Amino acid sequence: MLSNNNVEKLARPEVRQLVPYESKHLPECIKLDANENPFPWPEGMRKELFSEKLAFNRYPDGMAQDLKRAIATYTKTQPAGILVGNGSDELIQLILLTFGGSGKSVIIHPPTFSMYQMAARLTDTTVVQVPLLHGLELDTEKMLMAALSPEAHVIIVCNPNNPTGSLFSREEILRLVRESGKIVVVDEAYAEFSGETLIPEIDHYPNLVIMRTFSKAFGMAGLRLGYLLGQPETISLINRVRQPFNVNSFSQKVGILALGYVKEYQEQIQQIKAETQKLYGRLTQIPNVVVYPTKANFILFKPSDPDGWTDKLLKRGFLVRNMGDLPILGKCLRISAGLPEENEGFLQVIQEINQSQY
Ligand SMILES: Cc1ncc(COP(=O)(O)O)c(C=O)c1O
Repeated sequence: MLSNNNVEKLARPEVRQLVPYESKHLPECIKLDANENPFPWPEGMRKELFSEKLAFNRYPDGMAQDLKRAIATYTKTQPAGILVGNGSDELIQLILLTFGGSGKSVIIHPPTFSMYQMAARLTDTTVVQVPLLHGLELDTEKMLMAALSPEAHVIIVCNPNNPTGSLFSREEILRLVRESGKIVVVDEAYAEFSGETLIPEIDHYPNLVIMRTFSKAFGMAGLRLGYLLGQPETISLINRVRQPFNVNSFSQKVGILALGYVKEYQEQIQQIKAETQKLYGRLTQIPNVVVYPTKANFILFKPSDPDGWTDKLLKRGFLVRNMGDLPILGKCLRISAGLPEENEGFLQVIQEINQSQY
């Protein structure tokens, strides 16, 4: 019989080196750690969903045609230029399965979203890191230099960037698209909050791919639904590596319904933006805390003792994201805007923590 050790030896070397992603699941806490929409779904949406007849004994529509039509209307694009996925996490992998792989590289700009590196490791794609200038701004020149390498096939720009909240100029990103000659993925997970998008540019550039998600503004993180937008020929390449039924019928249906409530979601988005700015303003008033400006629904900040603050906040029932030691910026915490009363509670607790330090 094989020992556990020998079973491990049979695994691919890349897999043996991986550390599994473990997210904190503490439902009793006030969750300010994952940049979700804290509001319930718009009035009527749940009712509408449960009055639908959904045939769960049948496979989903693998082409997600109705959902693509709804997304096309929302994004003012065409269904042939859309690919849906089981969250954008799956889509990042599909992009690297298509354009990355052994002997190829993806260029990223740390500090940024950790799943890009994870997907690169899984697909055996080399990661080339071009850090943000001062931890906040795109270093377009260096990214273009890195893109000169024949191995470089993909550049990922996260806009607004998670975890910094910074928004990059569209001209800088378009320079990468025009001059790199590589696939440029713009992750617009938080675009509904920033109000900025490069979607209208898709028609001009076959190497531009935009990634969006229903997990943030649309409050569907638990249902895992994301989509890619690009020119039909580019999207059809990525479609070749997709599993036939990658998005379940339930998520497809909720995505369609959600896009019928855009006006209601807009109201939530406005409230979340106002709450984020309130949190930002109040955090900047706390001595010895560096706070970074944001165009998303979360804020990155640097207290004097980030690890101590994380523990103290957790003891008082608030879950925040400890980002660890970020390149250039150092140890930081990230919080997302919660419900108004949750944000008030959080601000009170950090005032107490801060005062107890001196
Ligand atoms: C920048 C960015 N892209 C993508 C995602 C993942 O989205 P999804 O829930 O669709 O996998 C996140 C989630 O935190 C994110 O911050």
